[in-house]
Amino acid sequence: MPEILPSILAADFARLGEQIRSVERGGATILHVDVMDGHFVPNISLGTPVVASVRKVTRMKLNVHLMITDPDRYAPLFIEAGADHVLVHQEVCPHLDRTLRMIRSEGAAPGVVINPATPVGTLEHVLDVAEQVLVMSVNPGFGGQEFLPYTLEKISVLDRIRAKRGLDFRIEIDGGVGKENAAEIVQAGCDWLVAGSSIFHSEDPGAAYAELKRIAVEGAGVRV
Ligand code: DX5
Ligand code: ZN
Repeated sequence: MPEILPSILAADFARLGEQIRSVERGGATILHVDVMDGHFVPNISLGTPVVASVRKVTRMKLNVHLMITDPDRYAPLFIEAGADHVLVHQEVCPHLDRTLRMIRSEGAAPGVVINPATPVGTLEHVLDVAEQVLVMSVNPGFGGQEFLPYTLEKISVLDRIRAKRGLDFRIEIDGGVGKENAAEIVQAGCDWLVAGSSIFHSEDPGAAYAELKRIAVEGAGVRV
């Protein structure tokens, strides 16, 4: 069953608790939290105090996407703050296997992220260590960007590798996801779809979540 992960980057931070309640009431079970350090990506977003506050107001799993140059240093702090899943970028991890195992030993589910230009093949040897593989469908750093269609091929490749090797990592996509492309993303083999603007820039985030979820579930029904 596909899941939609609302991304709070697009939320109104002055009304964050209310907006989180809205998507939780709409049925969301996993919340996507974008952490940016102004070095790996050209933007700064939020840190551990926000994760700790969010942890207190929701039962949703916190899917924490670290767009930072030094995840080894900060991952344990985000786990302590309440992260359930910690996702690190392949591009900043010279010892990716070690980083993923460290996240697991600190008590969170480890995930790995690849930028649009990074090949799936770079993950070949860690696909049984990572519990989530996130394919960026925009260049990370900002919400509201246009979906890059060629990234769908990377989803299909991962789905095929997963079936062939009998692995069970979740395939996640992030960036430019909305009503117009959710069905084809699921049909390519994606499990978790992150959606920021298309949920939080709407009048009713809970309703926007539910509508996207319906489209994704119906899309899964016609998966080829
Ligand atoms: C981008 C972030 C995304 C962002 C997606 O760097 O990783 O999670 O919130 O936003 P939308 O859905 O607006 O493209
Ligand atoms: Zn993200």
